[in-house]
Amino acid sequence: MGNRKRVLIVGNGGREHALAWKLAQSSELERLFVAPGNAGTELWNVPIPAQDIAGLVNFAQKEKIDLTLVGPEDPLSLGIVDAFQKAGLRIFGPTQIAARLEGSKSFAKAIMESAKIPTAKWQVFDDPDQAKNYLGTLGAPCVLKADGLAAGKGVIVALDMETALQAVDEIMDGGFGSAGKKLVIEEFLEGQEVSLLCFSDGTTAVPMVPVQDHKRALEGDLGLNTGGMGTYSPPPIWTAELESKVMEDLVSPTLQVMRERGTPFQGVLFLGLMLTQQGPKLLEYNVRFGDPETQVVMKRLKSDLLPILWACTEGRLSEVELEWKEEVAVCVVMAAPGYPLAYAKEIPIRLPEVTDSGTVIFHAGTGISEGRLRSTGGRVLGITADGKTLQQARKKAYTLVDQIDFPKAHFRRDIGEKGLQ
Ligand code: AMP
Ligand code: GLY
Repeated sequence: MGNRKRVLIVGNGGREHALAWKLAQSSELERLFVAPGNAGTELWNVPIPAQDIAGLVNFAQKEKIDLTLVGPEDPLSLGIVDAFQKAGLRIFGPTQIAARLEGSKSFAKAIMESAKIPTAKWQVFDDPDQAKNYLGTLGAPCVLKADGLAAGKGVIVALDMETALQAVDEIMDGGFGSAGKKLVIEEFLEGQEVSLLCFSDGTTAVPMVPVQDHKRALEGDLGLNTGGMGTYSPPPIWTAELESKVMEDLVSPTLQVMRERGTPFQGVLFLGLMLTQQGPKLLEYNVRFGDPETQVVMKRLKSDLLPILWACTEGRLSEVELEWKEEVAVCVVMAAPGYPLAYAKEIPIRLPEVTDSGTVIFHAGTGISEGRLRSTGGRVLGITADGKTLQQARKKAYTLVDQIDFPKAHFRRDIGEKGLQ
């Protein structure tokens, strides 16, 4: 293999550990770096924060990085892809303008409208009184969203009018900073949610395996919204027919509109779908790999990831064949006590030896201090296992969860239960 590549992953979550784990197995890899990484990616870490774009460009030039892969949305919204491209560096991910599909909910809705994509009825407001008037005509339940990035906390599902009216003030009264200057109000949709991540080279999109996330903090889908408490793949509610429909009616028109605007979308286009009685509707776009979706997707990807990413950066995705494992995969997130509100940090953790090759502990908010593994963030570990059946995969994942010494860890016991019903 004369042509091995030096790859840089940007980010420090469970998603980035899963991507690093997968890329480390690539036959085309020469050397891997993760900036800044976590304790799980220790072997590859370089201490540059994900938002330090100038520092990352510098590092990529100095280390002759062949390909950079961006995990989180913040550096994408800050224009990391534009900066790398300007410096003549190859990078996987959307440009700053294309990243607005996630960075601005009103922009995303406008694109959905011009691409005629089925989505919840909506309106955008910059005046609280007009927003409240609209609520009067829409009625409850309804959903209120801060326009900008708000780390997953900018969405309020209001079951009654009082909550909805309060939410207008909460979002627009400065609590969300500039993210809350504009407010999107939309119709409440009912159904099961599915995350569909697609590789895209700007013209061609190829779907990954479908995933169901568990966004709420508590079992039974109760409590506050979080970044995601666990995932499994594939959800039995998903069918090949549904996938063709989503690719045809939602994904292709999005790519086409982005191309027509002169801002083609290269990277991961992630659709947050609601499977309603009237068919699949789009809740939101994300412009990156999901977390913890990526943990189960990488567990199931049989093909080498590196040539897929490379092909996306060259507009040659249509030439790549993707293979997936039949096995079901489950990821259970272990979070710090208190998450998603204020949570404890620096909790010492002890991990058992993992002997089963079908099981892997992905790190998220972890670090090493005073020679010990400790928690550093809200979501700390993603215990990921595969199995011939969902039951088997769940059993393997929870058996390992129970062997982890992480005092007062918060996690859900019902990850994947929806798939059993
Ligand atoms: P978003 O960031 O837009 O995906 O919203 C976060 C979560 O809020 C979603 O995963 C859904 O669970 C919920 N949500 C968002 N929009 C709607 C909607 N129109 N109807 C029902 N639930 C929604
Ligand atoms: N798990 C949902 C996300 O990554 O946004």
